[in-house]
Amino acid sequence: MTKWALVTGASAGIGKEFCEQLAARGDNVVLVARRADRLEELKAHLEKRYRVHAEVLAADLANADDLKRVAERVAQASDPIEVLVNNAGFGLKTAFLDTDVEKEIASVDVMVKAVVVLSHAAGRAMRERGRGAIINVSSVAGFMASGTYSAAKSYVTVFSESLAGQLARTGVTVTALCPGFTHTDFHASADIDVDKTSAIGKRLWLDADRLVRDCLADVDAGRVISVPGKQYKVATQLLRHVPRSIVRAGALSNRHRPRD
Ligand SMILES: NC(=O)c1ccc[n+]([C@@H]2O[C@H](COP(=O)([O-])OP(=O)(O)OC[C@H]3O[C@@H](n4cnc5c(N)ncnc54)[C@H](OP(=O)(O)O)[C@@H]3O)[C@@H](O)[C@H]2O)c1
Repeated sequence: MTKWALVTGASAGIGKEFCEQLAARGDNVVLVARRADRLEELKAHLEKRYRVHAEVLAADLANADDLKRVAERVAQASDPIEVLVNNAGFGLKTAFLDTDVEKEIASVDVMVKAVVVLSHAAGRAMRERGRGAIINVSSVAGFMASGTYSAAKSYVTVFSESLAGQLARTGVTVTALCPGFTHTDFHASADIDVDKTSAIGKRLWLDADRLVRDCLADVDAGRVISVPGKQYKVATQLLRHVPRSIVRAGALSNRHRPRD
């Protein structure tokens, strides 16, 4: 029987690439994001190219009623969701105290609350059926101390590890995907300047197709943490082992240095 996957943030970047690769495997896909026009285009493309079914579920995950509708689809018994990809997210250009608190709350709603609500709905339904995979898109930033974005992604990684433990031996896997810099709309949408041209800068960047391919291989292997790219495997090992005072100093030397 054909599986159903649900991907949040399906209208662009990493989420769109997950939809492409899951559909290429033969999975039907529920597409979630705010820009319904982009989702309709993607649905038409996936159905034509891969002969799968796609469902558009336009939703703003920072809106409680919309999140409830998505959670209901995740928990639905008919056409059950067997792969959940919690991917939607965005960056904030300014440091915490220089950002409107409403924007900060919206980022927590999308990157933390929605991940918790949808993982809860999926975890229960998948445990009952004895199979499924939950993929939570976190970040290498979750190992750092760089703004509320780092804090949100740190939550996602630790939460995923904990849920993976709870679901061990149930047939359900949980994987936190921790990308480094990846070519998508992410930085332009947040108006964040990043080095893509220097020799070091070029080496840092990942392509979304390779990133998602590596992640799906890690999911198939039952890995709890997926860090695609050799450069980021090394970086995350270092970040996990150096004293936190050094990690904090690195963040302060960046853009979050407090004003004197
Ligand atoms: N690119 C990187 O360098 C990088 C590195 C580490 C981690 N990540 C993580 O990867 C994930 C995907 O980011 P990306 O790089 O693919 O960025 P992107 O190209 O900007 O895509 C972001 C996606 O999230 C959706 N989204 C944002 N706010 C939403 C909301 N309120 N409700 C529903 N959907 C929402 C957007 O759809 P709509 O605008 O249509 O709603 C879009 O589909 C994020 O969680 C990000 O934190 C990215």
